[in-house]
Amino acid sequence: MSETVLVTGGAGYIGSHTAMALITAGHKVVVVDNFVNAKPDALSVVAELTGVEIPIIDGDARDVELLTSVIEDHGVTAVIHMAALKAVGESVEMPLEYYGNNLETAIATLQAMRDAGIYKFVFSSSATVYGDPESCPIPEDASIGATNPYGMTKEMIEVIIRDLAASDDRWKVTALRYFNPVGAHESGKISEAPLGKPNNLMPMIMEVATGKREKVMVFGDDWPTADGTGVRDYIHIMDLVEGHVAALEHLDVQEGYEVYNLGQGEGVSVLELIRGVEEATGMQIPYEVTGRRAGDIAECVADPSKANSVLGWKTTRDIAQACRDAWNSQ
Ligand code: UFG
Repeated sequence: MSETVLVTGGAGYIGSHTAMALITAGHKVVVVDNFVNAKPDALSVVAELTGVEIPIIDGDARDVELLTSVIEDHGVTAVIHMAALKAVGESVEMPLEYYGNNLETAIATLQAMRDAGIYKFVFSSSATVYGDPESCPIPEDASIGATNPYGMTKEMIEVIIRDLAASDDRWKVTALRYFNPVGAHESGKISEAPLGKPNNLMPMIMEVATGKREKVMVFGDDWPTADGTGVRDYIHIMDLVEGHVAALEHLDVQEGYEVYNLGQGEGVSVLELIRGVEEATGMQIPYEVTGRRAGDIAECVADPSKANSVLGWKTTRDIAQACRDAWNSQ
């Protein structure tokens, strides 16, 4: 069935691409965002590309009354909750802001849904809940234990929605554990444009490719991996957001709470990603190996088989395409 989906935090990199995928799949989108870490531009592009208007409410997802009225005024039938602070390092410096913002936005959103009588909820979780995994690829039932306040907020919200689903069987709730989203929509018109210095590898490589920065700092080449640099599961952003559409549509037949990994299932090292961008751009990307970054882990790769079989969702874009699309969006 066609849903009207409130995407909290929907103006960001993942949110704007999610809006694109939802509209393409025939759903309607309403966004609430406070624009602390995003600009409205990406959603304007989505509206332009799809020819569909997206109501955007500049507001805080901690405001239950605001959310309730948005749900009622726009006939919202489901929520994808993305509004959150998301920088791991910053979360260690500012734990109160992270616990406060991330937990309060989630709880307020759920309260507003209950007040308005809607119960379909998809939550942006993260592979960071696995902490330093015992082995890779990681299945959903692996032990969890986040190692920083940002990750703890994801873990705690997973517990909250699990308990909520257990309390009332009208709730259908799904946590999506993202691995490392990269790339951009094939139009090249929506990009990952972090405000300030990028924390993540791909936006950093892009800033070097565009000449904004001199070189990529590679955080350690003494990890227990094939080439000594960190290994991650980079997933094309369009595959990731199509996973959201699949998870949302699956709520029709779902009971209670479920959790899914959204990853490609393949590990790529820092040096391999740099090489991928070199191939996509035909440029040389200068880099320098420096010390390890505090809190980093050697390897984090998904076992996506649950999402593949239950949601009928699979990634269809490889890392080469992600590098081309990331570059194209610059
Ligand atoms: N890296 C560098 N140089 C940089 C940035 C990153 O060498 O300038 C390396 C990191 O050490 C790591 C890899 O590139 O080996 C990926 O780092 P990212 O910061 O891009 O991503 P992380 O895997 O550390 O973190 C991401 C998200 C988090 C999320 C986590 C889940 O940013 O929000 O994945 O696994 F929690």
